[in-house]
Amino acid sequence: MRISFIFAVLLLVLPVAYSVEYVIGDAKEPVEKGDPDAVYVGAEKCKMCHKDKYDDWKTSGHPYKLLTPEEAKAIRPDIPLPEGYTWDDIQYVIGGWGWKSRYIGKDGFIITKTKDGQPLEKNQYNWQDGSWSSYHSGENKTYNCQRCHNTGAAYEEGTHQDGLEGIEGTWEFRGVQCEACHGPGSKHVEQGGGRGVAIVVDKSAELCGKCHVRGDNMSAIPSKGGFIRHHEQYQELKNGGMSALDCTTCHDPHKAVHEGATNPEGHPGIIKKCEDCHAEESEEFIGSIMQKDGVTCTDCHMPKVTKSAINVSDYEGDVNTHIFRIDTRADAKMFTTDGKSANGYLTLEYTCLKCHLDKDKTWAAKYASEIHSFGKAVEIKTPATTAAPATTPAPTAKGGICGPTAVLLAALLPLGIMYWLRRRG
Ligand code: HEC
Ligand code: HEC
Ligand code: HEC
Ligand code: HEC
Ligand code: HEC
Ligand code: HEC
Ligand code: HEC
Ligand code: HEC
Repeated sequence: MRISFIFAVLLLVLPVAYSVEYVIGDAKEPVEKGDPDAVYVGAEKCKMCHKDKYDDWKTSGHPYKLLTPEEAKAIRPDIPLPEGYTWDDIQYVIGGWGWKSRYIGKDGFIITKTKDGQPLEKNQYNWQDGSWSSYHSGENKTYNCQRCHNTGAAYEEGTHQDGLEGIEGTWEFRGVQCEACHGPGSKHVEQGGGRGVAIVVDKSAELCGKCHVRGDNMSAIPSKGGFIRHHEQYQELKNGGMSALDCTTCHDPHKAVHEGATNPEGHPGIIKKCEDCHAEESEEFIGSIMQKDGVTCTDCHMPKVTKSAINVSDYEGDVNTHIFRIDTRADAKMFTTDGKSANGYLTLEYTCLKCHLDKDKTWAAKYASEIHSFGKAVEIKTPATTAAPATTPAPTAKGGICGPTAVLLAALLPLGIMYWLRRRG
């Protein structure tokens, strides 16, 4: 009964949701459309034939967006609860794989109040430093976030997932599953799979930009309190220095990048490095003071100017930005005057001063435009095997042969040669 009802609703809603989903930004049509009659079957069905992709995906953050208490404790055994609450009060945990956890009560509302209805300040747990923040404290906050967090989201008026009043609309599967990117896959599975068989393959930035985006102004980079707001990598990329690239140029969409609960180390999901395309800058950088001290391209070009849960200083949040371009002027402004949008380049306080805490922007500006090769020893620039150019001998070089000594030697040389020739003859 219930299943067929959901299917009926889906059939009505899906085609609409589908065409709307792709009109963000410079919309491109997906390379291939999935089958319009297909329905969602869930990642477990795909695992059968795509175990490698499934295993990669399981280590990434995408599957873990909305968790039951058991699932949340499985990836984060030490997860705490807001004061006064026990696990019996919790329906779902939102997030917590990477940055922060929020909690949904048994009525489907996001927990913002104490159990007796008073505003609760500490309702968001931050994993990086174990602190708590206030998220819409005291408000009635419904969960309507599924279009970016879950798979097969629908917002039919008056529908509530699991019949819970605090959840607006429904979904098919929790988390960003295979079909959130590849479209509903039932027809692909029925036909035994295969390339070009009833499944979407979309490599464009717009695919990721369905969710890694904020608001509907694609030429703004929304900001607040001196930081770029999180989940807007699409706007950062499109308004920054490398707008021509797609996310999948650098990312394997199935693999993790962030160091989260199921990915304790490294960046397995980065398939193209800066060096692969910027040989000249990489060459310049090798041998500089900072390169020798372990500073990397991303330390300067992808600093954490974006904030999800916390900031660790005035200039460092907790998400790497995708703007890349650096403005080296001492008076360049990172944000618009109202502070609501970033300007599309990185300024030096965010690029340099997070490491050089005791310095200021004027200091940084003195070095910034030469920074790739800063501190490289001069000899490194002249290949050791080539003779020094004959034109300009250094006039002050200590121990060099120059001035009067040179004149004397020049005069003595022919005499010496004549002497040697006479001895041989
Ligand atoms: C975040 C979006 C996203 C998710 C989630 C996702 N994929 Fe993909 N997948 C893509 C994109 C984009 C491509 C094309 C990548 C490319 O070729 O650069 C792709 C490619 C593929 C391919 C083709 C690979 C090839 O060799 O051409 C398969 C198979 C696949 N995905 C299966 C899966 C399965 C199974 C899951 C779930 C376990 C999954 N994907 C989850 C975005 C996603
Ligand atoms: C019965 C086995 C089977 C199942 C189940 C299956 N697939 Fe496939 N799929 C295949 C085969 C075989 C290919 C072709 C792979 C190749 O040529 O390397 C394929 C190809 C793909 C591709 C690449 C398509 C293209 O045009 O390049 C994607 C994406 C994909 N599958 C996603 C999924 C998703 C998502 C699911 C779950 C909803 C799924 N598959 C379930 C067998 C299956
Ligand atoms: C437009 C898509 C979108 C919407 C709408 C959205 N989110 Fe998210 N959210 C994301 C993305 C993408 C990320 C991860 C990337 C990032 O933070 O930059 C994320 C991350 C999170 C995280 C941190 C996850 C972790 O692993 O620590 C939480 C918690 C969260 N969102 C809560 C919410 C809540 C609650 C709502 C609804 C009130 C919501 N989000 C609405 C896209 C969205
Ligand atoms: C349906 C919405 C959705 C789509 C489409 C989507 N993402 Fe995500 N992405 C999310 C959410 C939500 C999170 C936060 C997951 C978490 O923290 O548990 C996230 C997290 C991430 C992360 C950080 C976590 C990790 O595993 O390292 C990366 C990287 C990422 N996405 C890349 C991509 C790329 C690349 C694409 C396009 C191929 C894409 N995403 C498409 C919703 C989406
Ligand atoms: C696939 C190739 C490719 C990769 C990988 C790549 N870049 Fe680029 N980059 C480009 C291209 C092409 C441009 C020229 C700008 C454009 O048209 O998008 C560019 C431009 C830039 C610029 C100049 C922006 C400006 O307007 O001043 C910076 C800075 C930059 N890249 C840094 C990086 C860093 C750092 C990485 C590694 C995280 C990286 N790039 C990885 C291709 C790449
Ligand atoms: C210590 C900080 C720092 C590091 C590390 C760094 N860069 Fe840069 N990079 C800068 C600054 C500052 C500029 C802007 C220079 C200017 O505009 O004069 C820049 C400019 C660039 C540009 C644009 C050049 C142009 O002509 O417009 C590219 C591309 C680039 N860097 C790539 C890289 C790559 C690749 C790496 C790693 C091998 C790297 N950078 C490491 C600070 C850094
Ligand atoms: C030029 C290469 C490049 C492109 C293009 C690119 N990324 Fe990334 N992305 C990276 C690198 C490198 C990192 C890891 C940075 C680090 O941790 O130092 C990263 C990290 C991330 C993260 C995790 C942030 C964090 O703080 O851990 C998310 C989410 C993400 N990328 C999403 C996207 C999305 C969505 C797009 C397209 C709109 C995109 N990326 C385009 C190179 C790229
Ligand atoms: C990830 C941290 C980090 C970032 C980001 C960074 N630096 Fe450095 N920097 C270092 C380290 C480490 C050294 C070596 C310190 C030493 O040996 O005394 C260094 C050394 C220097 C020096 C020479 C030593 C001195 O104090 O005079 C200068 C100048 C410098 N950095 C400028 C910059 C500028 C300009 C930027 C931004 C474009 C920048 N740095 C970004 C870590 C960083």
